[in-house]
Amino acid sequence: MFMNAGDIVVKFGKDILESEDFLREKDFMQHGKTNTYDHSVGVAKTAVWVARVLRLRVDYDSLVRGCLLHDYYLYDWHHPSKEHRLHAFKHGKTAGKNAEKDFGLNFIERNMIRSHMFPLSSVVPIYKESFLVGLADKYCTVKEIFRRKP
Ligand SMILES: [Fe+2]
Ligand SMILES: [Fe+2]
Repeated sequence: MFMNAGDIVVKFGKDILESEDFLREKDFMQHGKTNTYDHSVGVAKTAVWVARVLRLRVDYDSLVRGCLLHDYYLYDWHHPSKEHRLHAFKHGKTAGKNAEKDFGLNFIERNMIRSHMFPLSSVVPIYKESFLVGLADKYCTVKEIFRRKP
């Protein structure tokens, strides 16, 4: 049966998408009018779409989970706070810590989350899945910033 990118995200990310902890991302704005939940789902769909178009041999389970959790830092970075200083450099590490605690991570997912801001992060992407989340994140960010108001 043919599955589109959205079906694949639901197949591997259902437990995360439905968890109360992850739903908290709806309360935090990411870029423009897009909240962090919608941004993360968009990144997951984009990464899956790219992997399928390029026929890459990737671990789809990890790809979806790492993408969904890549910005799981759980605060609004627009609000000034001591803890959010250097957000761009540090939030991958914070997201990784939170995701580890609430969902558990494998090696691929951990590297995806911690390196997704590379070269701003100190962690280097070492898996195909890590390059995909970085690419999809940058694409979605630009799209969200320039999206016209409805
Ligand atoms: Fe991020
Ligand atoms: Fe992101």
